[in-house]
Amino acid sequence: MPGILLDTLRGSRGDQVPMWLMRQAGRYLPEYRDLRAEKGGFLALAYDSEAAAEISLQPIRRFGFDGAILFSDILVIPHAMGQDLWFEAGEGPRLAPPLVDAVWQALETAMDRLDPIYETVRLTRAALGPETTMLGFAGSPWTVATYMVAGQGSKNQEETRALAYRDPAAFASLIEAIEIATVDYLVAQIDAGVEAVQLFDSWAGSLAPDQYERWVIAPNARITAQLKAKRSETPVIGFPKGSGEKLSAYARETGVDAVGVDETIDPHWAARELPAGMPVQGNLDPLLLLAGGDALHARVEEVLRAFADRPHVFNLGHGIGQFTPIEHVEALVAQVRSWQG
Ligand code: CP3
Repeated sequence: MPGILLDTLRGSRGDQVPMWLMRQAGRYLPEYRDLRAEKGGFLALAYDSEAAAEISLQPIRRFGFDGAILFSDILVIPHAMGQDLWFEAGEGPRLAPPLVDAVWQALETAMDRLDPIYETVRLTRAALGPETTMLGFAGSPWTVATYMVAGQGSKNQEETRALAYRDPAAFASLIEAIEIATVDYLVAQIDAGVEAVQLFDSWAGSLAPDQYERWVIAPNARITAQLKAKRSETPVIGFPKGSGEKLSAYARETGVDAVGVDETIDPHWAARELPAGMPVQGNLDPLLLLAGGDALHARVEEVLRAFADRPHVFNLGHGIGQFTPIEHVEALVAQVRSWQG
Protein backbone atom coordinates (compact mmCIF):
# COMPACT_ATOMS: atom_id res chain seq x y z
CA MET A 1 0.00 0.00 0.00
CA PRO A 2 1.70 3.21 -1.11
CA GLY A 3 1.05 6.34 0.93
CA ILE A 4 -1.35 9.10 -0.13
CA LEU A 5 1.48 11.28 -1.42
CA LEU A 6 2.64 8.66 -3.91
CA ASP A 7 -0.97 7.91 -4.89
CA THR A 8 -1.56 11.59 -5.55
CA LEU A 9 1.61 11.98 -7.62
CA ARG A 10 0.37 9.04 -9.69
CA GLY A 11 -2.80 10.96 -10.41
CA SER A 12 -5.43 9.95 -7.88
CA ARG A 13 -7.53 12.34 -5.87
CA GLY A 14 -8.64 11.12 -2.44
CA ASP A 15 -10.41 12.79 0.48
CA GLN A 16 -7.18 13.54 2.31
CA VAL A 17 -4.74 16.03 0.75
CA PRO A 18 -1.15 14.86 1.31
CA MET A 19 1.40 17.39 2.50
CA TRP A 20 5.10 18.05 2.91
CA LEU A 21 7.08 21.29 2.92
CA MET A 22 10.07 22.20 0.82
CA ARG A 23 13.13 22.60 3.08
CA GLN A 24 11.22 20.85 5.86
CA ALA A 25 14.51 19.32 7.01
CA GLY A 26 16.48 22.31 8.16
CA ARG A 27 17.20 25.34 10.23
CA TYR A 28 13.75 26.21 11.59
CA LEU A 29 13.98 22.98 13.67
CA PRO A 30 15.96 23.22 16.94
CA GLU A 31 16.85 19.52 16.69
CA TYR A 32 18.45 20.25 13.29
CA ARG A 33 20.43 23.18 14.65
CA ASP A 34 21.72 21.03 17.53
CA LEU A 35 22.93 18.27 15.23
CA ARG A 36 24.51 20.79 12.86
CA ALA A 37 26.45 22.41 15.70
CA GLU A 38 27.64 19.00 16.85
CA LYS A 39 28.76 17.83 13.39
CA GLY A 40 30.44 21.07 12.35
CA GLY A 41 28.30 22.43 9.53
CA PHE A 42 25.91 21.70 6.74
CA LEU A 43 28.18 19.91 4.29
CA ALA A 44 29.55 17.56 6.95
CA LEU A 45 25.95 16.64 7.72
CA ALA A 46 25.05 16.06 4.08
CA TYR A 47 27.84 13.47 3.64
CA ASP A 48 27.29 11.80 7.00
CA SER A 49 24.63 9.24 6.07
CA GLU A 50 23.44 8.57 9.61
CA ALA A 51 23.18 12.23 10.52
CA ALA A 52 21.50 13.06 7.21
CA ALA A 53 18.96 10.26 7.63
CA GLU A 54 18.22 11.49 11.13
CA ILE A 55 17.58 15.01 9.74
CA SER A 56 15.22 13.67 7.05
CA LEU A 57 13.26 11.92 9.78
CA GLN A 58 13.07 14.86 12.20
CA PRO A 59 10.15 16.66 10.49
CA ILE A 60 8.30 13.34 10.04
CA ARG A 61 8.47 12.62 13.76
CA ARG A 62 7.39 16.11 14.67
CA PHE A 63 4.65 16.74 12.12
CA GLY A 64 3.82 13.40 10.46
CA PHE A 65 4.24 14.76 6.92
CA ASP A 66 3.36 12.38 4.08
CA GLY A 67 6.77 12.75 2.43
CA ALA A 68 10.32 12.62 3.79
CA ILE A 69 12.81 14.45 1.58
CA LEU A 70 16.36 13.27 1.32
CA PHE A 71 18.67 15.60 3.23
CA SER A 72 21.27 16.77 0.75
CA ASP A 73 21.69 19.76 -1.56
CA ILE A 74 21.46 20.51 -5.27
CA LEU A 75 25.13 21.58 -5.21
CA VAL A 76 26.52 18.10 -4.48
CA ILE A 77 26.45 17.53 -8.27
CA PRO A 78 29.04 20.24 -9.07
CA HIS A 79 30.94 19.02 -6.01
CA ALA A 80 30.95 15.47 -7.37
CA MET A 81 32.03 16.86 -10.77
CA GLY A 82 35.13 18.26 -9.11
CA GLN A 83 34.37 21.81 -7.98
CA ASP A 84 35.27 22.69 -4.42
CA LEU A 85 32.14 23.52 -2.43
CA TRP A 86 31.86 25.35 0.86
CA PHE A 87 29.34 27.58 2.63
CA GLU A 88 30.32 31.05 3.83
CA ALA A 89 28.64 31.70 7.16
CA GLY A 90 25.64 33.97 6.74
CA GLU A 91 26.18 34.27 2.97
CA GLY A 92 25.67 31.00 1.17
CA PRO A 93 27.41 28.57 -1.14
CA ARG A 94 30.76 29.07 -2.87
CA LEU A 95 32.05 26.92 -5.74
CA ALA A 96 35.53 27.06 -7.27
CA PRO A 97 37.31 26.94 -9.62
CA PRO A 98 34.93 27.86 -12.48
CA LEU A 99 34.05 24.74 -14.43
CA VAL A 100 32.74 25.14 -17.95
CA ASP A 101 35.15 23.77 -20.55
CA ALA A 102 36.74 21.08 -18.36
CA VAL A 103 33.39 19.66 -17.34
CA TRP A 104 33.58 16.53 -19.48
CA GLN A 105 36.86 15.32 -17.99
CA ALA A 106 35.36 16.06 -14.57
CA LEU A 107 32.37 13.84 -15.28
CA GLU A 108 34.60 10.82 -15.77
CA THR A 109 36.19 11.12 -12.36
CA ALA A 110 34.67 11.92 -9.04
CA MET A 111 31.01 10.80 -9.09
CA ASP A 112 31.63 8.32 -6.26
CA ARG A 113 31.59 11.31 -3.93
CA LEU A 114 27.82 10.79 -4.00
CA ASP A 115 27.88 7.29 -2.48
CA PRO A 116 27.11 8.42 1.11
CA ILE A 117 23.94 10.07 -0.20
CA TYR A 118 22.60 6.76 -1.48
CA GLU A 119 23.32 5.29 1.93
CA THR A 120 21.29 8.16 3.45
CA VAL A 121 18.37 7.11 1.23
CA ARG A 122 18.64 3.47 2.33
CA LEU A 123 18.77 4.39 6.02
CA THR A 124 15.90 6.87 5.76
CA ARG A 125 13.63 4.58 3.76
CA ALA A 126 14.26 1.72 6.20
CA ALA A 127 13.21 3.90 9.14
CA LEU A 128 9.98 5.20 7.54
CA GLY A 129 6.58 3.58 7.74
CA PRO A 130 4.95 2.47 4.47
CA GLU A 131 2.52 5.41 4.64
CA THR A 132 5.37 7.91 4.20
CA THR A 133 6.80 8.50 0.73
CA MET A 134 10.55 8.92 0.37
CA LEU A 135 11.36 11.82 -1.97
CA GLY A 136 14.63 12.30 -3.79
CA PHE A 137 15.70 15.38 -5.70
CA ALA A 138 18.25 17.13 -7.84
CA GLY A 139 18.72 20.63 -9.15
CA SER A 140 17.79 21.15 -12.80
CA PRO A 141 20.69 21.90 -15.15
CA TRP A 142 19.99 25.62 -15.59
CA THR A 143 19.84 26.29 -11.86
CA VAL A 144 22.91 24.16 -11.09
CA ALA A 145 24.82 25.84 -13.95
CA THR A 146 24.12 29.29 -12.50
CA TYR A 147 26.10 28.31 -9.39
CA MET A 148 28.84 26.55 -11.35
CA VAL A 149 29.44 29.55 -13.58
CA ALA A 150 29.16 32.35 -11.00
CA GLY A 151 30.80 30.35 -8.21
CA GLN A 152 28.01 31.41 -5.86
CA GLY A 153 24.40 32.54 -5.80
CA SER A 154 23.98 35.55 -8.07
CA LYS A 155 21.63 38.42 -8.63
CA ASN A 156 19.31 37.58 -11.52
CA GLN A 157 21.85 35.00 -12.72
CA GLU A 158 23.36 37.68 -14.98
CA GLU A 159 26.76 36.14 -15.59
CA THR A 160 25.27 32.80 -16.65
CA ARG A 161 22.58 34.39 -18.83
CA ALA A 162 25.27 36.42 -20.59
CA LEU A 163 27.43 33.31 -21.12
CA ALA A 164 24.46 31.45 -22.60
CA TYR A 165 24.03 34.25 -25.20
CA ARG A 166 27.74 34.78 -25.85
CA ASP A 167 28.70 31.12 -26.25
CA PRO A 168 25.61 28.95 -26.57
CA ALA A 169 27.63 25.92 -27.74
CA ALA A 170 29.89 25.89 -24.68
CA PHE A 171 26.90 26.51 -22.43
CA ALA A 172 24.90 23.70 -24.08
CA SER A 173 27.81 21.37 -23.42
CA LEU A 174 27.85 22.31 -19.73
CA ILE A 175 24.08 21.75 -19.51
CA GLU A 176 24.44 18.37 -21.20
CA ALA A 177 27.16 17.26 -18.77
CA ILE A 178 24.96 18.23 -15.82
CA GLU A 179 22.06 16.33 -17.40
CA ILE A 180 24.10 13.14 -17.64
CA ALA A 181 25.30 13.43 -14.04
CA THR A 182 21.77 14.21 -12.85
CA VAL A 183 20.16 11.20 -14.53
CA ASP A 184 22.80 8.88 -13.03
CA TYR A 185 22.32 10.49 -9.65
CA LEU A 186 18.52 10.22 -9.68
CA VAL A 187 18.54 6.63 -10.94
CA ALA A 188 20.90 5.72 -8.08
CA GLN A 189 18.60 7.50 -5.60
CA ILE A 190 15.64 5.50 -6.96
CA ASP A 191 17.58 2.24 -6.71
CA ALA A 192 18.44 3.09 -3.10
CA GLY A 193 14.77 3.61 -2.24
CA VAL A 194 13.32 6.98 -3.24
CA GLU A 195 9.78 6.67 -4.59
CA ALA A 196 9.41 10.02 -6.37
CA VAL A 197 11.88 12.70 -7.42
CA GLN A 198 11.69 16.48 -7.66
CA LEU A 199 13.66 18.60 -10.11
CA PHE A 200 14.33 22.02 -8.56
CA ASP A 201 14.72 24.76 -11.17
CA SER A 202 14.84 27.58 -8.65
CA TRP A 203 16.09 30.25 -11.08
CA ALA A 204 13.92 29.38 -14.08
CA GLY A 205 12.22 32.74 -13.64
CA SER A 206 15.14 34.87 -14.83
CA LEU A 207 15.11 33.63 -18.42
CA ALA A 208 13.60 35.26 -21.52
CA PRO A 209 11.06 33.00 -23.28
CA ASP A 210 13.35 31.59 -25.99
CA GLN A 211 16.06 30.95 -23.40
CA TYR A 212 13.51 29.34 -21.12
CA GLU A 213 12.61 26.91 -23.91
CA ARG A 214 16.24 26.04 -24.46
CA TRP A 215 17.64 25.93 -20.92
CA VAL A 216 14.62 25.01 -18.80
CA ILE A 217 12.05 23.09 -20.86
CA ALA A 218 14.45 21.12 -23.07
CA PRO A 219 16.88 19.88 -20.36
CA ASN A 220 14.07 18.97 -17.94
CA ALA A 221 12.31 17.15 -20.78
CA ARG A 222 15.47 15.18 -21.65
CA ILE A 223 16.06 14.23 -18.01
CA THR A 224 12.44 13.18 -17.57
CA ALA A 225 12.49 11.10 -20.75
CA GLN A 226 15.61 9.28 -19.59
CA LEU A 227 14.15 8.65 -16.14
CA LYS A 228 10.97 7.32 -17.76
CA ALA A 229 13.05 5.03 -19.99
CA LYS A 230 15.09 3.72 -17.07
CA ARG A 231 12.72 3.80 -14.07
CA SER A 232 9.22 4.26 -15.47
CA GLU A 233 7.39 3.72 -12.16
CA THR A 234 8.85 6.74 -10.39
CA PRO A 235 6.86 10.00 -10.57
CA VAL A 236 8.81 13.15 -11.45
CA ILE A 237 7.79 16.49 -9.94
CA GLY A 238 9.05 19.51 -11.87
CA PHE A 239 9.42 22.76 -9.97
CA PRO A 240 10.46 25.61 -12.24
CA LYS A 241 10.18 28.47 -9.78
CA GLY A 242 9.26 31.88 -11.09
CA SER A 243 7.97 30.62 -14.43
CA GLY A 244 4.75 32.65 -14.35
CA GLU A 245 2.55 31.89 -17.34
CA LYS A 246 5.36 29.78 -18.85
CA LEU A 247 4.48 27.11 -16.27
CA SER A 248 1.74 25.96 -18.60
CA ALA A 249 4.21 25.19 -21.44
CA TYR A 250 6.56 23.55 -18.92
CA ALA A 251 3.76 21.28 -17.70
CA ARG A 252 2.78 20.29 -21.25
CA GLU A 253 6.19 19.93 -22.84
CA THR A 254 8.56 18.38 -20.28
CA GLY A 255 6.77 15.09 -19.59
CA VAL A 256 6.91 15.56 -15.81
CA ASP A 257 4.14 13.83 -13.87
CA ALA A 258 3.41 16.72 -11.50
CA VAL A 259 4.29 20.40 -11.28
CA GLY A 260 5.27 22.55 -8.34
CA VAL A 261 3.50 25.92 -8.28
CA ASP A 262 5.23 28.84 -6.56
CA GLU A 263 3.44 31.47 -4.50
CA THR A 264 3.55 34.18 -7.18
CA ILE A 265 1.03 32.18 -9.22
CA ASP A 266 -2.71 32.45 -8.61
CA PRO A 267 -3.79 28.89 -7.76
CA HIS A 268 -7.10 29.45 -9.57
CA TRP A 269 -5.14 30.31 -12.73
CA ALA A 270 -3.00 27.19 -12.27
CA ALA A 271 -6.06 25.01 -11.69
CA ARG A 272 -7.54 26.32 -14.96
CA GLU A 273 -4.45 26.42 -17.18
CA LEU A 274 -2.52 23.28 -16.27
CA PRO A 275 -3.42 20.04 -18.08
CA ALA A 276 -6.58 18.44 -16.67
CA GLY A 277 -5.85 15.75 -14.11
CA MET A 278 -2.18 16.67 -13.71
CA PRO A 279 -1.16 16.64 -10.04
CA VAL A 280 -0.06 20.00 -8.68
CA GLN A 281 2.03 20.80 -5.63
CA GLY A 282 1.94 24.07 -3.73
CA ASN A 283 1.55 26.94 -3.23
CA LEU A 284 1.32 28.73 0.11
CA ASP A 285 3.62 31.73 0.49
CA PRO A 286 6.35 30.70 2.98
CA LEU A 287 6.27 34.24 4.39
CA LEU A 288 2.62 33.82 5.29
CA LEU A 289 3.53 30.68 7.21
CA LEU A 290 6.15 32.75 9.00
CA ALA A 291 3.66 35.54 9.75
CA GLY A 292 0.82 33.23 10.88
CA GLY A 293 -2.61 34.33 12.10
CA ASP A 294 -5.98 34.68 10.37
CA ALA A 295 -4.49 35.55 7.00
CA LEU A 296 -2.61 32.25 7.03
CA HIS A 297 -5.74 30.31 7.88
CA ALA A 298 -7.77 31.97 5.13
CA ARG A 299 -5.11 31.46 2.49
CA VAL A 300 -4.61 27.77 3.29
CA GLU A 301 -8.36 27.30 2.78
CA GLU A 302 -8.16 29.20 -0.53
CA VAL A 303 -5.30 27.04 -1.85
CA LEU A 304 -7.06 23.83 -0.84
CA ARG A 305 -10.27 24.95 -2.54
CA ALA A 306 -8.55 26.16 -5.70
CA PHE A 307 -7.00 22.73 -6.26
CA ALA A 308 -9.97 20.67 -5.02
CA ASP A 309 -10.79 19.30 -8.48
CA ARG A 310 -7.44 17.72 -9.26
CA PRO A 311 -4.74 15.70 -7.48
CA HIS A 312 -3.09 18.15 -5.07
CA VAL A 313 -0.07 17.88 -2.81
CA PHE A 314 -0.18 20.67 -0.26
CA ASN A 315 3.17 22.47 0.00
CA LEU A 316 4.69 25.92 0.13
CA GLY A 317 5.53 27.93 -2.97
CA HIS A 318 9.20 27.76 -1.96
CA GLY A 319 11.29 26.55 1.00
CA ILE A 320 10.25 27.16 4.59
CA GLY A 321 12.16 30.06 6.15
CA GLN A 322 14.52 29.50 9.06
CA PHE A 323 12.64 31.88 11.39
CA THR A 324 9.26 30.17 10.93
CA PRO A 325 7.68 29.43 14.34
CA ILE A 326 7.08 25.74 14.96
CA GLU A 327 3.55 26.54 16.22
CA HIS A 328 2.63 27.95 12.81
CA VAL A 329 3.68 24.71 11.17
CA GLU A 330 1.63 22.77 13.72
CA ALA A 331 -1.42 24.91 13.00
CA LEU A 332 -0.95 24.42 9.26
CA VAL A 333 -0.74 20.65 9.63
CA ALA A 334 -3.89 20.59 11.77
CA GLN A 335 -5.79 22.67 9.23
CA VAL A 336 -4.78 20.63 6.18
CA ARG A 337 -5.44 17.37 8.04
CA SER A 338 -8.95 18.42 9.08
CA TRP A 339 -9.96 19.87 5.72
CA GLN A 340 -12.82 18.13 4.00
CA GLY A 341 -12.72 18.71 0.24
O1 CP3 B 1 14.36 19.79 3.52
C1 CP3 B 1 14.77 19.77 2.36
O2 CP3 B 1 14.18 20.32 1.43
C2 CP3 B 1 15.97 18.87 2.09
C3 CP3 B 1 17.17 19.33 1.63
C4 CP3 B 1 17.50 20.50 0.71
C5 CP3 B 1 18.52 21.45 1.02
N1 CP3 B 1 18.72 22.23 -0.08
C6 CP3 B 1 19.25 21.52 2.28
C7 CP3 B 1 19.96 22.76 2.64
C8 CP3 B 1 17.03 20.80 -0.59
C9 CP3 B 1 15.91 20.16 -1.38
C10 CP3 B 1 17.83 21.90 -1.07
C11 CP3 B 1 17.67 22.49 -2.40
C12 CP3 B 1 18.46 23.65 -2.80
N2 CP3 B 1 19.72 24.02 -2.41
C13 CP3 B 1 18.03 24.58 -3.77
C14 CP3 B 1 16.73 24.48 -4.56
C15 CP3 B 1 15.56 24.90 -3.80
C16 CP3 B 1 15.56 26.34 -3.41
O3 CP3 B 1 15.54 26.58 -2.20
O4 CP3 B 1 15.49 27.18 -4.31
C17 CP3 B 1 19.04 25.56 -3.92
C18 CP3 B 1 19.02 26.77 -4.85
C19 CP3 B 1 20.11 25.20 -3.05
C20 CP3 B 1 21.44 25.86 -2.89
C21 CP3 B 1 21.69 26.26 -1.51
N3 CP3 B 1 21.91 25.39 -0.45
C22 CP3 B 1 21.79 27.58 -1.00
C23 CP3 B 1 21.60 28.83 -1.84
C24 CP3 B 1 22.07 27.48 0.38
C25 CP3 B 1 22.37 28.59 1.33
C26 CP3 B 1 21.26 29.47 1.63
C27 CP3 B 1 20.18 28.81 2.41
O5 CP3 B 1 19.02 28.83 1.99
O6 CP3 B 1 20.49 28.27 3.49
C28 CP3 B 1 22.08 26.10 0.70
C29 CP3 B 1 22.31 25.52 2.04
C30 CP3 B 1 21.33 24.54 2.55
N4 CP3 B 1 20.81 23.50 1.84
C31 CP3 B 1 20.82 24.47 3.88
C32 CP3 B 1 19.98 23.36 3.93
C33 CP3 B 1 19.23 22.83 5.14
C34 CP3 B 1 21.18 25.40 5.00
C35 CP3 B 1 22.46 24.97 5.58
C36 CP3 B 1 22.64 25.43 6.99
O7 CP3 B 1 23.09 26.57 7.14
O8 CP3 B 1 22.36 24.65 7.89
